[in-house]
Amino acid sequence: MTTLTDKHIVLGVTGGIAAYKTPDLVRRLREQGAHVKVVMTDGAREFITPLTLQAVSGERVSHSLLDADAEAAMGHIELARWADLVLIAPATADCIARLTHGHADDLLTTLCLATTAPIALAPAMNQQMWRAAITQQNCQQLRARGVQLLGPAEGAQACGEVGAGRMLEPLQIVAAVQQLFAEPVLAGLKIMITAGPTREALDPVRFISNRSSGKMGYAIAAAAQTAGAQVQLVSGPVNLAVPHGVSCTKVESAQQMYEACLAQVAETDIFIATAAVADYRPVQVADQKIKKSQSEMQIALVRNPDILAAVAATQQVFTVGFAAETQDVEHYARDKLQRKNLNMIAANLVGEQLAFDQDDNALLVLWADGQQSLAQASKTVLAQQLVGLIAQHYAAHTAGSAN
Ligand code: PMT
Repeated sequence: MTTLTDKHIVLGVTGGIAAYKTPDLVRRLREQGAHVKVVMTDGAREFITPLTLQAVSGERVSHSLLDADAEAAMGHIELARWADLVLIAPATADCIARLTHGHADDLLTTLCLATTAPIALAPAMNQQMWRAAITQQNCQQLRARGVQLLGPAEGAQACGEVGAGRMLEPLQIVAAVQQLFAEPVLAGLKIMITAGPTREALDPVRFISNRSSGKMGYAIAAAAQTAGAQVQLVSGPVNLAVPHGVSCTKVESAQQMYEACLAQVAETDIFIATAAVADYRPVQVADQKIKKSQSEMQIALVRNPDILAAVAATQQVFTVGFAAETQDVEHYARDKLQRKNLNMIAANLVGEQLAFDQDDNALLVLWADGQQSLAQASKTVLAQQLVGLIAQHYAAHTAGSAN
């Protein structure tokens, strides 16, 4: 038995070059015990034939909303009801835009509107199209509605460019889909997660901050919610939609984040500190915009409270810290684990093009008597893996405390 045994997956294939990988994807899903029915768009049929996908899926391939035979039995509604998951791979920019705006002018978009099953997309497109503000906005809206985005990966593209936009490999998609069907390992638990940067004001218009985008913390919030937890996000200023089903308290400064977290700690089982909290803030905040009257200026700074250490000191909560290091990751992370008296810590190497504001990351997760590396992957996939590890260790911790 696997988590995909006897699951019904409608695989939507849209018109991108990555469509050539879909026969392998179908084969891999079926190896895990899933039943797969393929729906192709007109564009997809320019890249790969229905016959190939029919042969590997063992099922009739559908493509037309106006197929008289299938629609006599309301084919699109039947498919929508049959699905435990609608997976679209590859999902082109056009498909993402049409789903965002609720189009229903072909079989695939129509069944996406008609289904109550979860929807997951594996985007695939040119890197500039992926980075385009409108594509990113569309993805944010879809995520906020509970649609899962699997990838994309970075690398060389069919068009000769290099960047984010490659479809995940079939095995990576299968791993992410398995996670979607995973047990609700955090059911009944209340989890608080800090995310994003803090801003430390200098005057009414200026502040000290850092490059955190909030992507890691928001991905963990989404994964924890999918795993059944009641999730409270405490977020610094970011440009991300709050994941479906997650509550969010928005803050600006480290002091505000500290107060928001400490106010809710009594109702928390697990605290995950992903935020890049400013360690220092200006001693004085000017009431008016500071004028450039001097050729040099010095800013006196004072330490901010350590939110994670303060939560750990309450000894009421299972604490998971993050460690952002530019060198000697394991050494510094283990030091933070012990010094802040944490249950676990997830360390990442940071620097130019690493961790901060990236779609991918890699983690080394440490606890008192062990550790595990989570290899480079999208923050979505890493968050699911980390949540799995936290659930295991939390269960062992509470079983140990009960004895
Ligand atoms: O947001 P992204 O762009 O996705 O980037 C993700 C990330 C790189 C920010 C994230 O993966 C990460 O490493 N977060 C922790 C960043 C950090 O501040 O690390 P640190 O080693 O300085 O702090 C150690 C721990 O103490 C962290 O859990 C931090 O949240 C916490 N801390 C630090 C200072 C403080 N005053 N209060 C805290 O709670």
